[in-house]
Amino acid sequence: WELVRPLIQEIEELKAEKDALILAHNYQRSELYHSVADVRGDSLALAVAATTHAKRGPIVVCGVHFMAETAKIMNPDRVVLSPDPSAGCSLADSISADDMRHLRQSNPNIPIVVYVNTSAEVKALADACCTSSNAARVVNSFEEDTVIVAPDQHLADWVRSQTTKTILTWDGSCEVHRLFTTSDVAELRQMHPDTHVLVHPECEVSVQESADFVGSTSQLADYIERNRPQKVSLLTECTMSDNLRSGYPQTSFVQPCSLCPHMRKITLESVRDSLKHGFGEVHVDPDVSRRARRSLEYMVRVG
Ligand code: 13P
Ligand code: SF4
Repeated sequence: WELVRPLIQEIEELKAEKDALILAHNYQRSELYHSVADVRGDSLALAVAATTHAKRGPIVVCGVHFMAETAKIMNPDRVVLSPDPSAGCSLADSISADDMRHLRQSNPNIPIVVYVNTSAEVKALADACCTSSNAARVVNSFEEDTVIVAPDQHLADWVRSQTTKTILTWDGSCEVHRLFTTSDVAELRQMHPDTHVLVHPECEVSVQESADFVGSTSQLADYIERNRPQKVSLLTECTMSDNLRSGYPQTSFVQPCSLCPHMRKITLESVRDSLKHGFGEVHVDPDVSRRARRSLEYMVRVG
């Protein structure tokens, strides 16, 4: 902390001068997450905070690119900064606007719900967005008996377990969460019989089924807050355990570690440079933005 203190001080001064809002996803590096962030949370919390927070200056999104793009779509008149615009996401890369057009053509009259982990163009071609914390609610809000949930096949499995509707999906997956296996869970339970196994719905269905609880990153954090387990295993990006550990000194965090290389790209240095020089400003075509906003607003309304 001593090494990064001058950088944190510089960011705090820039923030005050510009009335900037810094949003940080739960997977962000601890030295950033626990210092300069005004709002910390899952994808849904960040999307909502971008529109509701009182600060009126630039919005700096410490997360991957689709999160910054989502903030821009929800706030077209604000300056939105992505400290490293090359911070992508394997799920967002797994489906293109052309894929969406084909999906629509081959499945007329079937609503398409897309995960927030998608590009603005893909959101613009969907009927609604969802995050991992509200996917089932969004799907169940449609009258149709069949709904497409894309691009994450594992999130689609999670929704399937919470609805009577037929769920069609795509073959996308998260490069971080697909690494967790049921053998990991069996090993954890053997070595730590008292551990609470908490799993993100981007893990494959057999891993979801072996969990004590499945939820979005913030829902996993809420589980720990409510239950105060002595031992917990978070099967999600492992920076999240680092971020929670200091708040729960009585809890041991035991799990295999899988890091998201895209989330790691955001650093205190890149946040400082972005705020100082306006690097990484996000632009979205106004027509795409307007149509994508409809999908996001639907999600916020029902989810
Ligand atoms: P959450 O919405 O649960 O924070 O998930 C975002 C994400 O990218 C998980 O890999
Ligand atoms: Fe995308 Fe997976 Fe990284 Fe989340 S953890 S941002 S889904 S690659």
